[in-house]
Amino acid sequence: MEEFFRIQGAGGKKTLKGDFVVSGAKNAALKMFGAAFLFADGFEMRNVPEIEDIRSVAALAEKSGLTAKRVGEGKWQVGPAKGEIWKMDEELSRKIRASIVLTGPILSRFGKVEFSFPGGCNIGKRPIDQFLDGYRAMGAKVSEVEQEKVLNVTITAPKGGLRGAEIFMRNPSHTATETLMMAGVLARGKTVLKNAAMEPEIVALAEYLVACGAAISGAGTPTIEIVGGKLLKASGRPYVTIPDRIEAGSIIVLASLLGKKVTIRNCEPCHLDALIAALKLCGVRITTGPDFVEIFDSGKNYRLPDKSLTIKTQGYPGFPTDLQAPMISFFTQVDGDSVVFETIFESRLEYIQDLVKMGASIVTVSNNQAFIHGSTPLVGKEMKSLDLRSGMAFVIAGLLAKGESLVHNAYNIDRGYANIEGRLKNIGAKIERVRVEP
Ligand code: EPZ
Repeated sequence: MEEFFRIQGAGGKKTLKGDFVVSGAKNAALKMFGAAFLFADGFEMRNVPEIEDIRSVAALAEKSGLTAKRVGEGKWQVGPAKGEIWKMDEELSRKIRASIVLTGPILSRFGKVEFSFPGGCNIGKRPIDQFLDGYRAMGAKVSEVEQEKVLNVTITAPKGGLRGAEIFMRNPSHTATETLMMAGVLARGKTVLKNAAMEPEIVALAEYLVACGAAISGAGTPTIEIVGGKLLKASGRPYVTIPDRIEAGSIIVLASLLGKKVTIRNCEPCHLDALIAALKLCGVRITTGPDFVEIFDSGKNYRLPDKSLTIKTQGYPGFPTDLQAPMISFFTQVDGDSVVFETIFESRLEYIQDLVKMGASIVTVSNNQAFIHGSTPLVGKEMKSLDLRSGMAFVIAGLLAKGESLVHNAYNIDRGYANIEGRLKNIGAKIERVRVEP
């Protein structure tokens, strides 16, 4: 069965109003299905987004011997691990990038892990060298066998388990930081991660592990220290997922384009400094509170400060690569010439050709720089989402355009945005999900 979104565009008229309630962060909650292997007991997870990726990683964790049960709206009971199953299901581990995060906890808990090269959005090669080099530094043996284009990896810890090590990360990788931090929790001795990523999801993970007995310091800074110890214990302490800053940012961009007055609730504005600063520079009327962001129609056209602005995607707290696509949709409506450098992933601009077909004036250079000349009116088109975030950019562009748009591969968007059409309808967007039986 194919599902797509049918969208009636507003032709640029600012009509959206009301509250949009942000879900829990996909890229925080996913990692807890790996963290659970570090525990002697289980724990309850709250504010978990009702999305495809959560269901996928839960199925993978269950196949790896972890109890993982959805016990209510946004609630899961996870752990403890029932048995020593260190071979990860191939099909499931190739479905999402987050599967790689389970390898650290499983390896440090059971001394062995076998998995197939992870999947995820097709936004670049997405190597795993930093994970494997980190495990080697911790004393593990890594063997890689390629069979019919699938890379199967077996990692074996030394006798007595992983050893703490000092690891310099060539790229401050978000998931590699989380994974090696978790591997250090049960390793013998101290692990130091240098040039570590600083995303809020990493801080949230570390805070919960520390509350349950882990010795971790420095999460959220470039140097994280972990002193290995014994299995953690939740002892009834629930894990509450932080708000999804990328979902919040996507809706803030939409509200900036089409909002009469929209309030984005249950978010952490301080996680969105880079986006909010860029939007304010273009004249968006934004106010922020402790857990909400309000966008008002400024009644004026947006314009770039002295007619030009350059945005570079970076690790946190820089401009997030996951908001690059929504931001480029925004720049098509701003007077002036903007430039966006995608520095994190090497093929994350493929979707731009579809925005050009809608009437946007964008030129891409060496697949990592986009030059946008605005503002240009967009006309509705039929599009196919290539990945989660460009799919959301198509929804934004469709809502903005004149006429009807169809966005195929709704699954891609469902991977990261729960019931997106329902929540967008709540603020007045004209969007519906269409199911086509085979
Ligand atoms: C995480 O991916 C997120 N996914 C991505 O979100 C997000 O775009 C990305 O971080 C950046 O914030 C999850 O958390 C599940 P990276 P991750 O490792 O960890 C290179 C979404 O839309 N690298 O920080 O895979 C890599 O190629 C998704 O929600 C290596 O070279 O990203 C990239 O150039 C998309 N070797 C750079 O590091 C490695 O071993 C940063 O990627 C690992 C990564």
